[in-house]
Parts: sequence; structure tokens; C-alpha cells
Amino acid sequence: MSNENQLKQIAINLARKGKGILAADESNPTCKKRFDSIGVESSFESRNEYRDMLFTSNKIEDYISGVILFDETLKQSTTCEEKIPFTKLLNSKGIIPGIKVDQGVIDLEGFPNEKATNGLDGLDKRLAEYYELGARFAKWRAVITIGDNIPSEACIYANAHSLARYASKCQQAGLVPIVEPEVLMDGTHTIETCNTVTNKVLKIVFEQLHMYNVLLEGIILKPNMIISAIDCPIQADIEKVADLTYACLKENVPENVPGIAFLSGGQSGDLATFHLNKMNEKYNDMPWHLTFSYGRALQYDALNSWKGKKENRKAAQESFLLRAKNNSLATFGSYVEMLETR
Ligand code: 13P
Repeated sequence: MSNENQLKQIAINLARKGKGILAADESNPTCKKRFDSIGVESSFESRNEYRDMLFTSNKIEDYISGVILFDETLKQSTTCEEKIPFTKLLNSKGIIPGIKVDQGVIDLEGFPNEKATNGLDGLDKRLAEYYELGARFAKWRAVITIGDNIPSEACIYANAHSLARYASKCQQAGLVPIVEPEVLMDGTHTIETCNTVTNKVLKIVFEQLHMYNVLLEGIILKPNMIISAIDCPIQADIEKVADLTYACLKENVPENVPGIAFLSGGQSGDLATFHLNKMNEKYNDMPWHLTFSYGRALQYDALNSWKGKKENRKAAQESFLLRAKNNSLATFGSYVEMLETR
């Protein structure tokens, strides 16, 4: 198969109906934050144990098409006696291993409170290594903050440009890039402001992808939903989130992009599912598949059930599978609330 066809096939597989992506690529500092919240020390072993718990969940492959891993996790194995490399385990279930390749955010010089993403230096070499290790898709997260007089044009262009260069490099290395321009939901802004900013960001991201000759059939877009900020006094309802998000995507995302997989961005597990479900229920003429690539929304419950204890593994896996199943149903628009408690 040509490189182009291979990329198209991977992207189609990742976004196929009924399936979504598990973002389990928390960097070690982020993982520490998550583990602190449940009183578990974050170490090589505890992170390995936690990821093992998630990935060995029974029939995870019924709901999950791909898992985004962190560098350390890509090289780890199951904790049982056989020590099966995670990439091998996932492949055996028909789940595609992916890898976070950005190296986190830094301050954007000259633009207070704005961020750029690090990681283009040496990326070609790392992508070749990751391909050898079995990764077939990658993720790069760009962060756009809404605040007083921000985001600036400079911040949007700098981030869109990096995303396009990253995407082009991934495709040359045979990996499907997940293009993630995240407009943060931190702050007090209204859903209308989120809408204006996200429309602008997506427009510029696609201009840059086009400029860098990125094959749109071989990417997955990972956007935020159009949503009220966490501390906005007026919280838009599910219908409004679905309508504005759909309209924004329709306006900016070319039809040849096969899949759009949302980030959860700090939404509760329930809301992230409701929003995805509403869009898929209401709009059935979409050119792309709408699915999930959640981190927190899929993991909150499992993390809280697990608490670092072996005896809680089973309960944690069940919490995780329930979230995964409900989001899988949401990709068909057929999630009903009762399933939440099974
Ligand atoms: P959240 O769903 O927790 O936002 O994480 C998704 C992700 O991959 C962020 O880069």
C-alpha cells in the first residue's frame, strides 16, 4: 500500500463508527497531578500499573480504536508475568497505538499569558523511532487561551504553523497526525466568545495545513467543543453546545477530513458524552465521523475507583468500560442516560 493509502486507512480506522480514541498520554508531571488527587505516588511502576489496568480492560476494543501513549508508556509492557509490550497487546486487540510527540507548552515570548508548543526540533528522528516501536498515529496539542485581548493573531498563527509542520512531518514518517488546537475552557468567557475564537482558530489551522500540503484524508482533527467557560455565570445548554459546535465545524472543516475526535477539556464525563451524543443524534448528514478522544472524561471514574490498589482493579476497569461504552453509543447518537448506571 502506498504511504498515502496507508495514512487514509489508519485515519478511517481511528474514526470508524462506534469507536473513539483513549487519550492516555499524560506526561509524567500531569500524571503526578492526577495521582496526587487520589493519594497515589506517581512512579514508573505505578504509572505502568495504572495504564495496564486501563489497557487490559475486557473488550476495550469494542469501543476504542486507538490509544494515545506517552513516550514512557509506549516502551512499557503489561505487568503480568508474560510482560507483553503495550503496543503488542493493543495491536492484538485491533487497537492502533499512538504517541504524543509534542514536548509541552512554553510561554510565547512577548505575548503575556499565551503559549506555544515545543517539539519540532528533532521531531523527524523521534517519529522514525516511534514508527519502529509500532506507533501509527501521533498527537500534538496546541493551546489557545481566551482572556483580556487574547488570543492574539501572533499566538494563533504561531500555533497553527507548528501544527501544520508537525502534521506534514508525521505524514512523511507514515504516522497519522492528530491535529489538536485546543481553545481552553478556563476563565469566565461566554459560549459566544468561544465560538468566535474557535472559528478563527480552525480557519487559520486549515489554511496552514493547506499551505504545507498536508493530506487532509490522512489526519484526525481534535478540537474543543464550543462551550461556556468553566466560570462563566451563564452555562449554555447541551442543545446550544451541539448546534454551535456543529455549525463551526461545518464552516471550517473540509469534507475530506475523515474524522473529528473531540477532547474533553475539563468537562465532566457525563457532559462530554451528552454533547457528543446530541451532535450525532441531531445531525446525520455530516461528511466526517464525529467521535471522542477523551482523556479526563474517560478516566475520572476509573482513577477514583482504582486509588492505586490491586483489589480495586476490576471496579476501575468497569468504570472505564462504562464510560467508553456510553461514548461509543454517543457516536451513533443513541446514548440514553439510563446506561450511565447500567
Ligand atoms: P482531555 O480529554 O482530558 O482534555 O484530554 C485530551 C487530550 O488528549 C489533551 O491533549
